[in-house]
Amino acid sequence: MLLTIPELFSAEQVSQIRQKLETAEWVDGRVTAGHQSMLAKDNMQIPEGHPVAKEVGEFILHTLSQNLLFVSGALPMKVFPPLFNRYSGGQSFGTHVDNAIRHVKGTSHRVRSDLSATLFFSNPEEYDGGELIIEDTYGIHSVKLPAGHMVLYPSSSLHNVRPVTRGARVSSFFWIQSMVRDDSARTLLFDLDNVIQQISAGDVNSPNAVKLTGIYHNLLRRWAEV
Ligand code: NI
Repeated sequence: MLLTIPELFSAEQVSQIRQKLETAEWVDGRVTAGHQSMLAKDNMQIPEGHPVAKEVGEFILHTLSQNLLFVSGALPMKVFPPLFNRYSGGQSFGTHVDNAIRHVKGTSHRVRSDLSATLFFSNPEEYDGGELIIEDTYGIHSVKLPAGHMVLYPSSSLHNVRPVTRGARVSSFFWIQSMVRDDSARTLLFDLDNVIQQISAGDVNSPNAVKLTGIYHNLLRRWAEV
């Protein structure tokens, strides 16, 4: 499932975040690439563990933890500390699949990448190109969202970032280990949760809302690893 989380951050918050990011030093993005993706990758990043990355990353994680759409769609167990990248001057990232296991630098923590996230900090009119192209079983999707919006997609998907031929594309990217590893199971739970929300909006104690909520939790009990 490809899921857009709209307006995670307001325009004002985006501009504050961008000002902070500009104070960091940016390095060659190949520092966090695996063997195959190192050949495909051409961008700039803020080094992992940089104080600015930590500060903005914690703000992102806090905001995500309050976002019902994110929690319902990702069923997060662990989130990798957000990283930050910038593409300009024709830079791109060729087709690749993200590494399955990510080690959090300087710790013994590991995150299995079930979902990949891109959170846009540049508005589409600020740059040409830079579309995130995601291939899944339903075809090829081109994603270019307003600043403050985020896309979540299965980390098992082949994807690439088209060359940025004008301006700069700044974003945050990270991975989520879900309580429910399987994308199709997670999608069923998300769809069921949406129906429950709609039914409950009328009457939270209606017999159907209670029964469906029970089914949701019994499926989650069956599928979740915690
Ligand atoms: Ni990737």
